[in-house]
Amino acid sequence: MTEARPVDKDQQLAAARVDHTGTRLTTDQGIPVDNTDNSLHAGARGPSLLEDFHLREKVMRFDHERIPERVVHARGSGAHGHFQVYESLARYTTAEFLCDPELRTPVFVRFSTVQGSRGSADTVRDVRGFATKFYTRQGNFDLVGNNMPVFFIQDGIKFPDVIHAVKPEPHNEIPQGASAHDSFWDFVSLQPETLHHVMWLMSDRAIPRSFRTMQGFGVHTFRLVNAQGANTFVKFHWTPVLGTHSLVWDEAQKIAGTDPDFNRRDLWEAIEAGAFPEYELGLQLIPEDQEFEYDFDLLDPTKIVPEELVPVTPVGKLVLDRNPNNFFAETEQVAFCVGNVVPGIDFTDDPLLQARLFSYLDTQLTRLGGPNFAQLPVNRPLAAVHNHQQDGFAQHQIPVGEGNYHPNTLGGGCPAVPGTGFTHFPERVDGHKVRRRSETFADHYSQSTLFWNSMSGWEREHIIEAFRFELGKCNRMAVRERVVGHLEQVDHQLAVAVAAGIGVDEPAPVGENHGRRSRALSLTARTGNGVL
Ligand code: HEM
Repeated sequence: MTEARPVDKDQQLAAARVDHTGTRLTTDQGIPVDNTDNSLHAGARGPSLLEDFHLREKVMRFDHERIPERVVHARGSGAHGHFQVYESLARYTTAEFLCDPELRTPVFVRFSTVQGSRGSADTVRDVRGFATKFYTRQGNFDLVGNNMPVFFIQDGIKFPDVIHAVKPEPHNEIPQGASAHDSFWDFVSLQPETLHHVMWLMSDRAIPRSFRTMQGFGVHTFRLVNAQGANTFVKFHWTPVLGTHSLVWDEAQKIAGTDPDFNRRDLWEAIEAGAFPEYELGLQLIPEDQEFEYDFDLLDPTKIVPEELVPVTPVGKLVLDRNPNNFFAETEQVAFCVGNVVPGIDFTDDPLLQARLFSYLDTQLTRLGGPNFAQLPVNRPLAAVHNHQQDGFAQHQIPVGEGNYHPNTLGGGCPAVPGTGFTHFPERVDGHKVRRRSETFADHYSQSTLFWNSMSGWEREHIIEAFRFELGKCNRMAVRERVVGHLEQVDHQLAVAVAAGIGVDEPAPVGENHGRRSRALSLTARTGNGVL
């Protein structure tokens, strides 16, 4: 059996790099080309000839340069770097990259907006993706997070709905740049579970100044599992060393016009200048026996775990120190999957997470043209890969020998070795099949109120202005009214201020609102080590 032989990721990528400088032009078959400016004609003014293989190949290759853009998070910017843990976390996990402080694990990070197309502007009001691929010696671990710690929906079966509602309208593909349209607000008004995330979306968090000054969150509760098989619930946080900073709306709009690549350019130039973006990885760790200690469900991705209840422990640092060589080959072809976990990290039953486990690999089969995309240089693990998977479009390896099945007596192939691989946490599962939401997911307002109460005066003003601007673009008054009705459940002053700006009648106070208990807490999860 061949052991995993880790190599430097940059060395691995180097094997795939091609530099055409100083060489001569050939076809894809390596045939020298003596003229690439004129096609082969029958006579100087005659028709082009089918036998001109250079013309055919050159135009054919151009015709097929595009692949489907990501169905969400289409616009992105990537960078290479490394991660190192400060101290061993062996108490909690067997994940080697989290246990060995000497180990520098190569990473590739892709930042993105969610709803715009690949060519859309950077500074639109939107959620940002913060996806990290750790090329660990035990295989790839992908932490596919966002810059906001909660999500719009609780169950992945609603993802196509929320994305259809957020993306441009199907009949005219308007609007391209913001959440300011009827379908988005219609969805919000009908699905109050979106409220908490919508509060974040209307805050300045939705217009980051730079990817270098942006937090990241794993959003879901995951598990860490140690050598004894004990599990600890965990929430992942990235905190930028430069602090968390946002644009203001006026800036964001002007920049979208004058420099649509503002965030992308900033990341690229900072790395070229040696001002390497750095982020601390922080963990909120919750012992297994405290799963039911909170007035929200740890499996509910529309909830944070307030830092007053569970502090964030800084455990390591991510440094981005190298720009990609080629946007398409690296940033576009990278394939993150929330299901890529290494021994010592495992999932929970969060129903949003569970649907994501299916979605990423599924979409990448289309986006990256078949099942062999893990062989693409940017996706290739550093850990050795051996199995009996074979064939398919774009197979780049030449498996040798017989015995491409298990078990076999032909001497080939590779057996699974008991006791040495990934073991799924043996969570006890009990219950009848049901198609309904857990009662423990029912409160949609308390943490929205918590968020609002944690805002300073000017932050509240920005949120009110954002609601007025965005919701004010919704043409249907009934939708505006329904959204204001939900805001009334969050905070009366917020609802009154928004209503006054968009021609909706002032809502009657609902009295003690749903966030009463949570109001005692301030929301430090939002602050990191910087300010909004
Ligand atoms: C990208 C599905 C929820 C973060 C994507 C892609 C799909 C997808 C299909 C495109 C992937 C590709 O083409 O390579 C889903 C589904 C979700 C969900 C079905 C809910 C059920 C979330 C959540 C987060 C998130 C909650 C954040 C915690 C991301 C990021 C990317 C992405 C960062 C971009 C990855 C990259 O840079 O290539 N998602 N998503 N998604 N998703 Fe999700």
